[in-house]
Amino acid sequence: MYICVCNAISERQVQEAIAQGAADLSDLQAQLGIATCCGQCADTATDYLPGGRYATELAAAPAMAPARVVQAPLLTSTEIRRVA
Ligand code: FES
Repeated sequence: MYICVCNAISERQVQEAIAQGAADLSDLQAQLGIATCCGQCADTATDYLPGGRYATELAAAPAMAPARVVQAPLLTSTEIRRVA
């Protein structure tokens, strides 16, 4: 889907620019040229920035804690016979 019709800039291009560090509309304008003609796309492009309604879930998701590894104790042959 095109976000900026004047400059043929797609939603994907906007999302990639944001993933690479674009933090505000001026960054998107500098990197992509979005909202540099009629300006009708400025609000929509801003909605893709962090905190906007179309911001990606990846950017909004909290970092996951690393998995915890639990090592079970090894059973001796006597303990194995008792269990079996
Ligand atoms: S639609 Fe983006 S500048 Fe016109």
